[in-house]
Amino acid sequence: MKAQIVFASMTGNDEDMADILEEDLQDAGFEVETTDVSFADASSYLDADLCVMVTYTYGEGVMTDELRDFYDQLIELNLTGKKFAVMGSGDKTYKDHYCENVFDFQKAFKKIGAQEVAKPVTIENAVKDEDIALIDQAASQMAEAFND
Ligand SMILES: Cc1cc2nc3c(=O)[nH]c(=O)nc-3n(C[C@H](O)[C@H](O)[C@H](O)COP(=O)(O)O)c2cc1C
Repeated sequence: MKAQIVFASMTGNDEDMADILEEDLQDAGFEVETTDVSFADASSYLDADLCVMVTYTYGEGVMTDELRDFYDQLIELNLTGKKFAVMGSGDKTYKDHYCENVFDFQKAFKKIGAQEVAKPVTIENAVKDEDIALIDQAASQMAEAFND
């Protein structure tokens, strides 16, 4: 099984999340490709069984240009038959905009036919021990979805 993780990260928090998830999925037997959104093309999801987006949220939910470009590519795809999950880091001081871009991608994946296999993991700023446990748990759910 192949997993494609795309991450968007400026100060490293989402990159850390992506790295932890990558290791978890490799341990679960996936072949994993992890790509920075700046270098990614959404069509790389077409070659994957499991599609994952790990993203920051900046600017009260307004997507950065690089994230918007990727989103615009994604929304044109048909990912029917693929499984997906989203996660990301934000800051609760942004209230209604907390991790908003994580949920933007969740909606987009659903809209283009993919099936969600783990609840979104949202964490505050840097990854802490309890966050690692949440990522590990989500990775287990992702792996279990392929055991049916
Ligand atoms: C200018 C600025 C705007 C931000 N806007 C939001 C926001 O709208 N929603 C949110 O949840 N977090 C917001 N954050 C917090 C970041 O998303 C958070 O620090 C995250 O961990 C950064 O991820 P990264 O290290 O992967 O870049 C903002 C941070 C900054 C500096």
